[in-house]
This record gives sequence, structure tokens and C-alpha cells, in this order.
Amino acid sequence: MARPGSRVEEHGELTLFLQAGDGYPYYARPRFPDGRPSVADVLAVRERQRSLGVPEALEWVHETTPDLLAVAREAGMDVLQAPLLVLDPARLPEPHPHVRVLGTRPAEVTAVAALAFSSPGTAAGETGAAERDAALAEAGTTSADTRHRHAVADLPGEGVLAVGTAQRAGDVVEVVGVGTLPAARRRGLGGAVTAALARDALDRGAGLVFLSAASEEVARVYERVGFRRIGTACIASA
Ligand SMILES: CC(C)(COP(=O)(O)OP(=O)(O)OC[C@H]1O[C@@H](n2cnc3c(N)ncnc32)[C@H](O)[C@@H]1OP(=O)(O)O)[C@@H](O)C(=O)NCCC(=O)NCCS
Repeated sequence: MARPGSRVEEHGELTLFLQAGDGYPYYARPRFPDGRPSVADVLAVRERQRSLGVPEALEWVHETTPDLLAVAREAGMDVLQAPLLVLDPARLPEPHPHVRVLGTRPAEVTAVAALAFSSPGTAAGETGAAERDAALAEAGTTSADTRHRHAVADLPGEGVLAVGTAQRAGDVVEVVGVGTLPAARRRGLGGAVTAALARDALDRGAGLVFLSAASEEVARVYERVGFRRIGTACIASA
């Protein structure tokens, strides 16, 4: 996805995105549209990332740059192969009554996402509302955030249990950061926030809504709310 607000450097057949502010650090990807990076390109970009103190990270779509999987591994990187899915709007489920989508980022989004991603996978667990409220006590307040939309599943008497974010470039929207507190998993909330973000994106004129799933089991959550598998996103780290 294009990165408004990032600085761009070319390194051979790789393009490196660098976050201008303090946000989530970006990665390098093959030069668009036909970049075919070599081992030397990967090593060069990793050295540049190291010198800047940002993660040594590379991302690409396997189907468009199939050779890079072997190249990145030869350059010493670990590659996560994440299912890549796009929305079939006709298959979106009915809206969930307690999920809403916001144009600002409430503190709950940060707190719940952090706790959810600390317990990867789809299994339920102990961590729940008490840990969320402890994190909220230390967190800031709602922050303005015009590039993103945020969804919260806010259940009566329970508060925010699941969250997700949508980021947009042109008419393409990517859903990211979907997470449910471990104690609230397997109630349909992760699927519901994903569906709400997708519906909101369509209502706001998106032509394509996509996401990548951390694993095959996470992909099932998205498939149930109308996404279908179209390929594999490769995410390489040092
Ligand atoms: C992935 C994640 C967001 C799913 O959240 P969730 O709220 O548990 O998701 P859902 O409840 O919609 O679906 C999970 C399972 O519960 C089942 N389920 C849904 N509604 C249910 C209900 N009412 N009763 C029982 N089970 C239900 C689903 O069928 C699904 O089952 P499956 O694993 O056999 O396919 C959550 O596990 C998580 O936060 N994981 C860590 C962070 C992460 O990896 N995020 C995704 C990054 S791409």
C-alpha cells in the first residue's frame, strides 16, 4: 500500500519506505512494478536499515515476485508467509449491534491491540478487562488521526473487548491491527470489527478492501466475514 507521509529511498531493485514521524516503522519492497531484487540488494537495504536503527524488514506479494522468497532466505532473513485476502462485498454479514467505527483513535484501541497481540493465535486466555483497564489508566486520551478509521466492539457492561483499524490510500483500504482480548475470544467479535471496518470503507467509496492474516487459523476468522484468499504476503525479518 502506498505510504503517504513516508520518505522513500531506492536501493537497486528495492524501494525503502521510512516513516517521517514517530509511527510504526516501515519496510522495503520490490521496486514497482517489476522489481527483481538480488541477494546484494537485500543485503544493501538491510545494512541501510541497521544504520538508521529501523527494523531490517522486507515485504512483498509472493505471486508478483516469486523469486524473492529464496533470495531473502539466502540473504539470511526469516520469511513469514501470510494469507492475503480481499473482500467480496456481497458476502459481508449483518452489522454487529455493539461495534462502531470512529474517525479518531480512542485509547482503548491501543490498549486492547497491545494485549491482544501479546497473546498471538486465536485461542482464548485469561487476559481481559482488568488488564485493559490497568493499561488505560496509564495511557493517553483519544488522539486525532485523519488517515485511519478505528473499530471498537464495546459491549454493555464489559467495555471495549475487540478493536481494529483501517488505513487508506486512494480507493484502496487495508484492514490492520484486528485484536480481541484473550478472555473475550471466540464470541464473533474479531470477525465483527473486521466486517464493520470493511462496510465503513465501502460506504466511504473504497473500491478494494484487503488484509493479510497472521496465520491460516486467523485467515478463517476473516473468511467467515466475506474475505477470500487471493495470494500470499511475504514478511521478512532479520
Ligand atoms: C485473531 C483474533 C482477532 C480473532 O478474534 P475473535 O474475537 O476470537 O474472532 P471470532 O470470535 O470472530 O472467531 C474466532 C473463532 O471463534 C468462533 N466463533 C465466532 N463466534 C462464535 C460464537 N458466538 N460462539 C463460539 N464460537 C464462535 C469462530 O468460528 C472462530 O472459530 P475457528 O477458530 O474455529 O475458525 C484474536 O484471536 C486475536 O486477537 N489474536 C491475536 C492477534 C492477531 O493475531 N490478530 C490478527 C492479526 S492478522
